[in-house]
Amino acid sequence: MAFRSKVTFLFLTCLIVLASSAVPKKSGRKPANPPPRAVADPEKDAEITNSCPEDGFFADAEQCDKYYECRNGEIIEKLCPDGMVFNDYNPLEEKCDLPFNLDCSQRPKLQEPIPSLHCVRQNGYFSHEDPKECGKFYYCVDGKFNMITCPDGLVYNDKTGICTWPDEAKKKGCGAADVFQFDCPAVNETFGLTHPRYADPDDCQFFYVCINGNTPRRSGCKLGQAFDDVNKKCEWARKVPECADWYKGQLTDAELDALENPPTPKPKPAGSQPSRRKPQRPKLKEVQIEE
Ligand SMILES: *[C@@H]1O[C@H](CO)[C@@H](O)[C@H](O)[C@H]1NC(C)=O
Repeated sequence: MAFRSKVTFLFLTCLIVLASSAVPKKSGRKPANPPPRAVADPEKDAEITNSCPEDGFFADAEQCDKYYECRNGEIIEKLCPDGMVFNDYNPLEEKCDLPFNLDCSQRPKLQEPIPSLHCVRQNGYFSHEDPKECGKFYYCVDGKFNMITCPDGLVYNDKTGICTWPDEAKKKGCGAADVFQFDCPAVNETFGLTHPRYADPDDCQFFYVCINGNTPRRSGCKLGQAFDDVNKKCEWARKVPECADWYKGQLTDAELDALENPPTPKPKPAGSQPSRRKPQRPKLKEVQIEE
């Protein structure tokens, strides 16, 4: 649904030429932009109110957050809220979005930013001012901020607006070595390709996966479990000698019992398909609640 007045200008020019020679013109593109004179001679905007090709919403050719509404032949110039850009996928929809999934490379201009506390623009996701706060960012709506913290071990990636692994975010000062107090032990290449795992020396519930043997990513076991560094897998904490008391003070023995031995599923009715998959616990729970 690309929609650019320069293209339309060419197209309209063609159309006039073709119309005068009475040759039908076939084109996949709809002539649906504000008229070329709006670009060629902006001071005459007032005169062009009758030249809207069809009703709808159309992107400006140069400015990503500017668009036009055409209604009954009238053109109204509009601006998205600061920080948002016009989504031109569907001319029937008036839609401004955060810029992450929209391509503004062909119309890169934007309105002057209206900053406020922690917000570079009124709307959007913005990195923390302190470059060492790798996992913190601000979400701004109408100039009001909310500080958000990425899940443990992740870094805010301002190119995508989401939390990702430090090695993926590639943010200066926020590499795996800066974020984690953990260095992957040196291993040979063959072993490195198995993405070896190592217990987090400071937290029984967590472990590091060393991608290709050298890039650590922090990962965790579920509640009640600990990473068993001998068998390289998550195990109930009480069965991992060095972590047996890890949940003391956080979970009672009864709570740990319940985690380790959740209610057993009811036997399946005779004749049902044998399945190697374990019955899904959440479903059973739902049934029990309903009873
Ligand atoms: C690589 O290291 C692993 C684990 O230390 C070892 O078992 C293996 O023999 C080594 N392979 C080579 C090719 O050196």
